[in-house]
Amino acid sequence: MVSINLGSIKLNDNESRGFSTKEYSLFVIQKQGELYVYRNSCPHLGVELNWVENQFLDPDCELIVCSTHNALFLVESGLCVAGPCNGASLDAIAHEIVNDELIVHLPD
Ligand code: FES
Repeated sequence: MVSINLGSIKLNDNESRGFSTKEYSLFVIQKQGELYVYRNSCPHLGVELNWVENQFLDPDCELIVCSTHNALFLVESGLCVAGPCNGASLDAIAHEIVNDELIVHLPD
């Protein structure tokens, strides 16, 4: 496991932000004060979900959307609930907040 400090993340609810490390593309979403971190890779074709920088949510800011074929995912679990990968899940990334900074724990 590799731990990476992404620094101080200041998001409002229903905001998202993308990050890239050497090997991973990730995104973070805040919902109801909780941060969720996923690998930025759609389980359908393995492409990044967003076409616009830092935009991972549908227009209602309720669900994560893949821009390629409009698959929809629950923010809290990453489960796909509509679209070509229905029933598959985004890869959740283990993380913690230490001294106001987001530390992600990535698999080797
Ligand atoms: S690549 Fe994401 S829904 Fe097809």
